[in-house]
Amino acid sequence: MSSYVTRKTPGDTRWFTAARFGMFIHWGLYSMPARHEWVKTHERISEEKYDKYFKYFDPDMYDAREWAKRAKAAGMKYAVLTTKHHEGFCMFDSKYTDYKCTNTPAGRDLVREYVDAFRAEGLKIGFYYSLIDWHHPSFPIDHLHPRRDDPNAKQLNEGRDMKVYAEYMRSQVRELLTNYGKIDILWFDFSYDTPTSGPYANGWMKGKGKDEWEAEELIRMARELQPGIIIDNRTQIEQDLWTPEQYQPLEWIRHRETGELVTWEACQTFSGSWGYYRDESTWKSPEMLIRMLINTVALGGNLLMNVGPTSRGYMDERAVNALQVYEKWMKYNGRSIYNCTMAEPEFKAPADTRLTQSIDGKRLYVHLFAYPFAHLQLKGFAGKVDYAQFLHDGSELKFTEGSVDHFSEGAAKSDDLLVIELPAVKPDVTVPVIELFLK
Ligand code: GLC
Repeated sequence: MSSYVTRKTPGDTRWFTAARFGMFIHWGLYSMPARHEWVKTHERISEEKYDKYFKYFDPDMYDAREWAKRAKAAGMKYAVLTTKHHEGFCMFDSKYTDYKCTNTPAGRDLVREYVDAFRAEGLKIGFYYSLIDWHHPSFPIDHLHPRRDDPNAKQLNEGRDMKVYAEYMRSQVRELLTNYGKIDILWFDFSYDTPTSGPYANGWMKGKGKDEWEAEELIRMARELQPGIIIDNRTQIEQDLWTPEQYQPLEWIRHRETGELVTWEACQTFSGSWGYYRDESTWKSPEMLIRMLINTVALGGNLLMNVGPTSRGYMDERAVNALQVYEKWMKYNGRSIYNCTMAEPEFKAPADTRLTQSIDGKRLYVHLFAYPFAHLQLKGFAGKVDYAQFLHDGSELKFTEGSVDHFSEGAAKSDDLLVIELPAVKPDVTVPVIELFLK
C-alpha cells in the first residue's frame, strides 16, 4: 500500500484521488463575444452592450450527452461546469434572478441537462460557482469590476450591500445543492485582497474574502445539504482541495502550517483561455497534454482539464482534437493514472521519466518522456521487479540486473541497476509507459 498519508478532508475524497482526471467546462454568455471569460471587465463592457449576448444566447447545438460521451472517452471520471461565472449569468433556472439561461432564447435549464447526461455516463458531478458577480446590483464595485473606471463608479457603488449579495449566494448554492440530486464537487472561485499597488491601491475599492462571502455559513449550509461533497479552497477557508492553476507544481503540495501532504487538483486549459476564445491560438501539443496529466499524478495530484464550448453549444474541433489525444492515450495507458499516486521514495525516476505507482503498491509505471536508446537503466531497482512490459500492448520487456557492459571493462559498475532492453523504434504512443510488476 502507498505509504503516503494525506491531511484528513471534511469531504469524501476517496473516489476523487482514485479518479485522477476530470473535465472543467467554462460556458456562459462570454462564449458569445468569444474573447475570454473576463471579456466584460477586460473591455469594460456596459450592461446595455453585454445584454446583447443575453438577448441572443441560443445554444441550439447543445447536446450534453455528446459532451458527456467525449469526457468519458477521454478518460475523465468527473466534470465541473460553471453554473455562474464572474459575469453573474446563471446557467440554471434560479428563482432568485432573471439573469439566467431560461430567460434567453436557450429557454431551458442547461445545468439540468449537464447533470443528467454526465450522471448517465457514470461521471461524478461538479458545480463551479463564482463568488464574484459583475451583474448583481448589490455586489460592491472593486478593482476587478467592469465599472471600476466609470467616472461615477463611487456613486454607482453607493448602497451596494455585501450582506445582501452573500445571502443571494447562499440562496443560489442552496438551489444548486437541492434541485439536482447528489453533487460531488462544489468549486468556488475566488477571493482577492485589496490592491496595495497600481491605480486602485488602498482606495475605496476593497478586496473580498471569507468574511465578505460569509463563507463559513455558506460552507456549513453546503455540507448540511450534501454531506460528502468536496469543496475547494478559494473561499479562503481550507476545505478538501488545494487548486494550483495554470502551472505544474514541483512536488506534492504540503499544508503551509502542518507540512502534511494535502489533496490537490491542478486546473489547466487546453488553450490560453477558460471560456471559448475564437482567435486564441496557444493550444497545447499532444505531448504536453499527456505529460501534464502524468506529471500531476506522479506528484499525487488530480488534473482538471478545461474545455470552453462555443455559444452554439458544441465543443469546437480544436477542443475535440485535444480530447481525442487523451482518449487515444488513456485507452491503453489509463492503468498508470487511475488508482495511482506518487511512487514510493525508494524508487527514483531515471532521467526523462516520471513514475507513478498503484495505490496497492504492486505496480510501478515508468513514463518515457524521452525515448532512450536500447536500454533503460533504473538505479536501485535491482531485485525488486518480477516482470516488465509495455503497458499499451502488454508486450514483454526483457531485463537484466547489474549493469550494461560493452567494452567498458574497468569502469565502475553499479550492481543495483535494473536494465530494461527497449526496441530501437519508439512505439507509436505519445508517451510510452513501462509497467513493472513488483516482487
Ligand atoms: C481564474 C480565472 C477564472 C477561471 C478560474 C478557473 O480564476 O480568472 O476565469 O474560472 O481561473 O480556475
